Amino acid sequence: AFYSNITVEKKGKKNNVGFIQLNRPKALNALCDALMKELQTALSDFSKDEEVGCVVLTGSNKAFAAGADIKEMQPREFAEVYKGDFLGFWNSISLFKKPIIAAVNGYALGGGCEIAMMCDIIYAGEKAKFGQPEILLGTIPGGGGTQRLTQAVGKSKAMEMVLTGDQISAQEALQFGLVANVYPVEELVDKVMEKAEKIASMSQIATGMAKEAVNSSYEMTLAEGIHLERRLFHSTFATILKLAINSIGSCNMGIINAKL
Ligand code: HXC
Repeated sequence: AFYSNITVEKKGKKNNVGFIQLNRPKALNALCDALMKELQTALSDFSKDEEVGCVVLTGSNKAFAAGADIKEMQPREFAEVYKGDFLGFWNSISLFKKPIIAAVNGYALGGGCEIAMMCDIIYAGEKAKFGQPEILLGTIPGGGGTQRLTQAVGKSKAMEMVLTGDQISAQEALQFGLVANVYPVEELVDKVMEKAEKIASMSQIATGMAKEAVNSSYEMTLAEGIHLERRLFHSTFATILKLAINSIGSCNMGIINAKL
């Protein structure tokens, strides 16, 4: 596929990490429709690519993404956004089956923060800034910000961010559990690639099920979630059994894992 708002490649020693970089530098990676459609296409291709076991989504050092494209949104009216379910298709990122990691340097604002939160893990560079500034424009988050941010940082901090539009630093994001770790700006992508390659070297069936089980904790009661987890766990015995038989004498789990 030809992309003009993102770059897409396969990276890692085993070429098993899908790497997507948002690349609209003049607009600080504002998420225009064209960019979001390209992102969807890239993810769809990676979901079909059996070699790819993990995806990394990143931006530039200045901006992961400064939000939905304000210039594109400005002329839109209620009837159009309602009938067209504006931003509805963004949610496809959260339905992506393989592990996906956001590597955030610089601004992750509005829709930028929201797509980072649709990923499974967020790592931040030291200068990253997270925020939901929609209130400053007279609107509210429309890509899951009021929901996922609240789940990540708790009600008080989420309310503060959503009602004031104030940004938080990478360190605060770490303190409140929005990000898994913070790295120096120049090291972020390498550190994230290390994690991504590690995840991509695991059984894709196991990482897929692990992701499904963790995500279900946001959708289900505890009893339902535990039930689902146990059933998924049981089902891994279909592949673990093969592992055990195949590894007699060799114990080379890595090679076997890669096939399952
Ligand atoms: C379109 C954007 C943009 C955006 C920046 N740009 N953010 N264009 N949509 N969200 C453009 C600017 O217009 C400018 O282009 C160029 O990027 C550089 O931006 P500057 O403002 O000159 O950079 P700087 O002074 O460094 O300030 C960076 C910034 C600021 C603090 C991130 O750009 C900013 O506040 N941006 C808006 C952030 C925001 O409100 N995001 C939420 C959007 S709403 P030109 O051509 O002028 O040089 C949203 C959810 C909507 O995401 C869902 C509900 C409907």
